[in-house]
Amino acid sequence: MKLVIKCLMAITVILSFSTAAQADPFPNADPKVGKKRFDEAKCNACHVSLMGGDGNRIFTRPERKVKDAQALAKMVRFCVSQTGAGIFPEDIDHIAAYLNRDFYKFK
Ligand code: HEC
Repeated sequence: MKLVIKCLMAITVILSFSTAAQADPFPNADPKVGKKRFDEAKCNACHVSLMGGDGNRIFTRPERKVKDAQALAKMVRFCVSQTGAGIFPEDIDHIAAYLNRDFYKFK
């Protein structure tokens, strides 16, 4: 019986650690660098014509495609390949972190 309680405690500790780790989905990325890369690569050039005005609206519109941090990183990677701009793999995380900080706010 005691062992069961110990196990439950261990599980609780592990679970609380994993939620803490999820608090920031891009812990090694810098949103400031991301914003810079986003502007340099003219990411919103396409989004502006898609949305007819404010390109950032693509990230906040009700029918937006991206539903979690993983999908966000994937979508940024896809759009980076569309731009063909000189964006390095590590910039993808920076850009995702910037979009998450300002628009998506995934935990
Ligand atoms: C060649 C045009 C084009 C360029 C350039 C472009 N995008 Fe996109 N972007 C799109 C299209 C098309 C969609 C999808 C719109 C849809 O499915 O409704 C999209 C959607 C997105 C979404 C998802 C929005 C949602 O619905 O939640 C993200 C995030 C995104 N782009 C990031 C970027 C980033 C970062 C860059 C710059 C590296 C970039 N895009 C450059 C065309 C582009």
